[in-house]
Amino acid sequence: MGESMHVAQSTGYHPQRQQNQVVGSSSKLAKTWITTTILIFVFFIIFFGASISWLDMFVLGTESRIQISPISTRNTSKTTIPKIIIKIPLNCTSPNSNTTQTCPSNYPTKLDPEISSSETCPDYFRWIQQDLKVWEGTGITRETLERAKPIAHFRLVIKSGRLYVQKYDKAFQTRDVFTIWGILQLMRMYPGQVPDLELLFLCHDKPGIWKRDFKQEDNATWPPPPLFHYCGHRDAYDIVFPDWSFWGWPEVNLKEWNKLSEAIKEGNKKVKWEDRVPYAYWKGNPMVSISRRNFMKCNFSDKYDPMVRLYVQDWKRETRAGFKGSKLEDQCTHRYKIYIEGNAWSVSEKYILACDSMTLLIKPEFYDFFGRSMIPLKHYWPIRPHHCGDLKFAVEWGNNNTDKAQAIGREGSEYLMKSLEMKYVYDYMLYVLQGYGNLMKLDVTVPENATEVCSETMACPITDGGLIRQCMDDSLIMSPSVKAACDLPQPYDDDEMKSFLEKQERAERETGKWTDEYWEVQNKIFQQ
Ligand SMILES: *[C@@H]1O[C@H](CO)[C@@H](O)[C@H](O)[C@H]1NC(C)=O
Ligand SMILES: *[C@@H]1O[C@H](CO)[C@@H](O)[C@H](O)[C@H]1NC(C)=O
Ligand SMILES: *[C@@H]1O[C@H](CO)[C@@H](O)[C@H](O)[C@H]1NC(C)=O
Ligand SMILES: *[C@@H]1O[C@H](CO)[C@@H](O)[C@H](O)[C@H]1NC(C)=O
Ligand SMILES: *[C@@H]1O[C@H](CO)[C@@H](O)[C@H](O)[C@H]1NC(C)=O
Ligand SMILES: *[C@@H]1O[C@H](CO)[C@@H](O)[C@H](O)[C@H]1NC(C)=O
Ligand SMILES: *[C@@H]1O[C@H](CO)[C@@H](O)[C@H](O)[C@H]1NC(C)=O
Repeated sequence: MGESMHVAQSTGYHPQRQQNQVVGSSSKLAKTWITTTILIFVFFIIFFGASISWLDMFVLGTESRIQISPISTRNTSKTTIPKIIIKIPLNCTSPNSNTTQTCPSNYPTKLDPEISSSETCPDYFRWIQQDLKVWEGTGITRETLERAKPIAHFRLVIKSGRLYVQKYDKAFQTRDVFTIWGILQLMRMYPGQVPDLELLFLCHDKPGIWKRDFKQEDNATWPPPPLFHYCGHRDAYDIVFPDWSFWGWPEVNLKEWNKLSEAIKEGNKKVKWEDRVPYAYWKGNPMVSISRRNFMKCNFSDKYDPMVRLYVQDWKRETRAGFKGSKLEDQCTHRYKIYIEGNAWSVSEKYILACDSMTLLIKPEFYDFFGRSMIPLKHYWPIRPHHCGDLKFAVEWGNNNTDKAQAIGREGSEYLMKSLEMKYVYDYMLYVLQGYGNLMKLDVTVPENATEVCSETMACPITDGGLIRQCMDDSLIMSPSVKAACDLPQPYDDDEMKSFLEKQERAERETGKWTDEYWEVQNKIFQQ
């Protein structure tokens, strides 16, 4: 028991061990000729690569560690054209040297992916335009943007492919660090494709821009200020962006998503579905919200076996024990896993769905960027909030219909593993930032006291051998993508959006009805 964990949201603000990696040292914009030289070199090599059939490894210059090597990819025309991969490792100045870490000036500023996209992005990309729609008519002026400043944790400026940060407030743990790290990796992946922009980011759990505070009739508050955040809500205008955990959450021993999803994939193979415990499992921190505290009551009943197993995550003990008891890859041991949101969306959603156990999803109020296209009874089993009986019914139904329950578990896990590959996460970020950048009606300016930040200034100073640096090294994008971003699907128009949501609700209502019918019968039996 206790093999697994549920990543709980932190309710608030416990300024522990705040990392200051965000603020590094600024670099002088010198040696632009290096960039030019390298671009010429790259051109030269691409040209040569096409005529020489094999080019083992080419090292640029004597000082430079940028490595270029061709790979053969699928045939585009009759001849195989070797694709060029540029490898750009971190260029950390030696720790003994007295100079402060600077941002390299020789990373390619623009590189078009060689393989054009042949696939459409997952459906959740259809919400991007919806999130940005409120500024469609007006654009984002400086006045509009600055109104979000009082509640933002940091301002992030991208100008000519360089990134600058101005910190306003301490974020919990390393949320801001890994959020900024993620955007830096996006820029390494798609050089020259992230437009100039200024954005404000909120790192708390809950959204910050509520619709009730912004009315179209009121010229002083319309349009609402744009604020990037990790989750959305039907009553909020926050722009939904992937949370930090995709690049790591070292404080709770969570590795970046690439590594962790592979581990969970392997973990899925450990116990066959039929051999798993035929109960619903949850482990987490119940103290983050009232609904979670109430949810713990589902564990108890003197009348019947509730068929759930709920456990409280003791973070202090886990931390002392080196998180040995909370490995996510060891948690796919029950046939059913419960998702319940915390203070807002919960980072745990992807880890729970990744398990191919059937997810019992307690209807959340807050949504992250990828969950919005999931379909009840296809990817998960919908559970009404505050309905312990829904859980027992779902488990019993699953145990009576193992094939179907297993299929829902598998579909949910496939949805997640496929549509949430890191490539798609970056593609999603790219489209959000491009769409947002198009709305800029202001001169993008780097504030005087902002700091230039790059992967080097963030990672190089961390030499303690700890998990923060490991997460960074694991998620470092080493080469610009040879593959273009997926093709953006048509955004939902209002009618499609409405009918999608109605379909979702219909499935939820139907499930609720079956459940109620079952309980009517059960209660009659109890009363006899
Ligand atoms: C690494 O950075 C140093 C100092 O900024 C620079 O002199 C050197 O050329 C860089 N090396 C590579 C491979 O970019
Ligand atoms: C690529 O082209 C070569 C030569 O025409 C052919 O032998 C090979 O099967 C092709 N490979 C693929 C993956 O289409
Ligand atoms: C670093 O610089 C400081 C001040 O410039 C100097 O006192 C110190 O000796 C230098 N250390 C090394 C290792 O060069
Ligand atoms: C809002 O602005 C519009 C256009 O500038 C103007 O016509 C309208 O009277 C203003 N309304 C209020 C309430 O100030
Ligand atoms: C829930 O029930 C299980 C099994 O009966 C028990 O081991 C566990 O401690 C209970 N959880 C809570 C939070 O009381
Ligand atoms: C599961 O099957 C048992 C035995 O046939 C039945 O009594 C029970 O009502 C079924 N439960 C559900 C939820 O279908
Ligand atoms: C940076 O500049 C802004 C605006 O000029 C100011 O509000 C803020 O206090 C400054 N921050 C620091 C750390 O100096």
